[in-house]
Amino acid sequence: MISYVIFFIVSFTISLLDCKAAGPTSNPVVKVQPNTNWCLGCICEAISNCNRTLKCDGDVCGLFRITWPYWADSGKPTVNNEDKNSTTAYANCSNNEVCAGTAVSNYLKKFSQDCNKDGVIDCYDYAAIHYRGGYGCSGPLNNEYFNKFTTCEKHIQTLGTGTRT
Ligand SMILES: *[C@@H]1O[C@H](CO)[C@@H](O)[C@H](O)[C@H]1NC(C)=O
Ligand SMILES: *[C@@H]1O[C@H](CO)[C@@H](O)[C@H](O)[C@H]1NC(C)=O
Ligand SMILES: *[C@@H]1O[C@H](CO)[C@@H](O)[C@H](O)[C@H]1NC(C)=O
Repeated sequence: MISYVIFFIVSFTISLLDCKAAGPTSNPVVKVQPNTNWCLGCICEAISNCNRTLKCDGDVCGLFRITWPYWADSGKPTVNNEDKNSTTAYANCSNNEVCAGTAVSNYLKKFSQDCNKDGVIDCYDYAAIHYRGGYGCSGPLNNEYFNKFTTCEKHIQTLGTGTRT
């Protein structure tokens, strides 16, 4: 289970470096604890066991279980410069772990907020935004999702890769 997270963190770190070179600069509102790679890894773990074989199923696609409106709100990142308006752009991106990671990262930055009103915007808030969406993240989380998320967070910190920078 954790190997998926590690794989994800490594592959996503590489992609993030690429994105930073080319992507637009964003201005997170409150930079208490930013949206780090281990955080994305734990969200992925919680939502799908970070299962890289998952494709589209109903209205969700890929290992982050992304919906079309979520992808649209994330700025419609695409794989291999595919046209954003292409009918396959959403599925191709959501089913590609690097593109899906970019979509999630963009979405979480866009809706960054203190969902549980504890004075800190941390990975719990990002997990809540991912699960409940950016317009209503303050409600309770599904137990299974919450438990998988907190277990992953603890494992990552035990492994010493949870540097919150
Ligand atoms: C990943 O998802 C596939 C397809 O739903 C499933 O068959 C497989 O058991 C899952 N693997 C893990 C490790 O959860
Ligand atoms: C995609 O569609 C939007 C809205 O219809 C349009 O404004 C935009 O120019 C289109 N982009 C491309 C690349 O075709
Ligand atoms: C998008 O998906 C279609 C259909 O699955 C596929 O044929 C195409 O190669 C994909 N495009 C990219 C850029 O991945």
